[in-house]
Amino acid sequence: MAAKRTCDVVVIGGGPGGYVCSIRLGQLKQKVICVEKEEVGGVCLNWGCVPSKALISASHTYEKVKDAGPTMGIFAEGVKVDVAKMQDWKNGIVKKLTGGVRGLFRGNGVELVIGDARVTGPRTVEVKTKEGGTETIEATKAIVIATGSSTIEIPTFKFDGKQVIGAKEGVSLREIPKRMLVIGGGVIGLELGMVYQRLGSELTVVEATPTLLPGVDPECVAVVEKKLVKHGAKVLKGAKAMGYEKNQDGSLAVKVDLGGGKHDTLVTDVVLVAVGMRPNGGGLGLEEIGVKVERGFVPADHVGRTNVDGVYAIGDVSGVPMLAHKASKEGEVVAEVIAGHKAAKDWVSIPAAIFTDPEIAMAGLTEAQAKEKGIDVRVGKFPFAALGRAMAVNETDGFFKVVADKKTNELLGIHIVGPEASNLISEGALALEMHAFLEDLGLTIHPHPTLGEGMMEAAMNGLGHAIHILNRNA
Ligand code: NAI
Repeated sequence: MAAKRTCDVVVIGGGPGGYVCSIRLGQLKQKVICVEKEEVGGVCLNWGCVPSKALISASHTYEKVKDAGPTMGIFAEGVKVDVAKMQDWKNGIVKKLTGGVRGLFRGNGVELVIGDARVTGPRTVEVKTKEGGTETIEATKAIVIATGSSTIEIPTFKFDGKQVIGAKEGVSLREIPKRMLVIGGGVIGLELGMVYQRLGSELTVVEATPTLLPGVDPECVAVVEKKLVKHGAKVLKGAKAMGYEKNQDGSLAVKVDLGGGKHDTLVTDVVLVAVGMRPNGGGLGLEEIGVKVERGFVPADHVGRTNVDGVYAIGDVSGVPMLAHKASKEGEVVAEVIAGHKAAKDWVSIPAAIFTDPEIAMAGLTEAQAKEKGIDVRVGKFPFAALGRAMAVNETDGFFKVVADKKTNELLGIHIVGPEASNLISEGALALEMHAFLEDLGLTIHPHPTLGEGMMEAAMNGLGHAIHILNRNA
């Protein structure tokens, strides 16, 4: 007979949305069960955000040590990569983090059930456990859908786990391919493609639209693209990979439609497909109980409620942008709401960071988006090359760009391409949340010598008087 038990809240999915929601619910003294079908941490901790960043940092270290001779006078001989060791190190990080989440669950009274959950009523979930059993859980207060998203596959490039792979396999390669072809010049394609480029792969990027990283400030993208090409990558934009054949030597011949009636065949060893993620709202039994599911998304309102009372949705499955930190914040909001507190998704911006070389990070509107809204904008810029600290760390590519309302000087957006952009953007996100003006950023004393000075100088450039560059807009 199937086991049956009761709790206050069932959270389905243990990724950055679901696990954060569960922990906060635990802190708020709710009896919560989190059901996860694989491992806590979801895509982000297990094969997404964190593992990819480990490989990005390791491959940067390799490149820096290898290339420091002509500039910094450090000549290292026999520098080589043991990619299996690198993978073991990365796997150790994943283990520590997922173990950490399990520890936080225990400490906050959250019960973890590993199994496949299906909603069978507005307060009932059925779980097929890993051990093969079935249990029914009654949630007296709420069910939270936090099932995330899955890699999109292209029918003509079915994953084989070895030569035609997605990001999951892409962060687990134990050999460096001689040649790698990436389909999709978006976030994953460029982040992972550049890892293997630094480790020695010949890289080709095939992007369907006319630009890499569609939607990102084009000036920022140009800096990354220049470096990609400088390091030997072939970048095909407005191009579509149509299919492939296996050559006798085991390599793959990929047919690419270059547009305008032109075609090419590119030979590669590994194809990494990175054409986006699709939300996991289907197959959970939601439609059967009346929850609206639209193209896999489970739409939720400003407090995370779906159209059915007591059923909430957070993270990738509830809508774009599909970012871990957005999921986590939504998880916290929903936990507060379920516990009877006042909370809402009331943020000005969801910052984003892209770990290319150099990094890109942004918060708020791009210059183009502000103009589309009919706002007369004032733009301030400052190059990393004018920062002493950037020279001292030998990373001078890129710039800071601030976009403000010309009438009021209120900040609308901050865009950074350059070293540590991902760490520098938080100041911009805070500035937007505080409705700061160019003067607020520009008049704040930033410690010297730091990369953060660029933010202050870009704001001052917007006002026409940055100190360390000539202000052509003054
Ligand atoms: P993406 O949406 O960033 O990029 C997919 C790219 O593939 C787009 O540029 C698209 O135009 C292109 N494309 C689509 N179909 C194609 C085709 N048939 N041939 C060639 N190009 C094609 O998706 P991606 O990179 O897979 O990332 C998935 C999600 O993960 C994104 O929502 C992203 O926000 C998130 N993510 C975020 C990271 C971060 O914040 N640093 C890191 C990695 C992923």
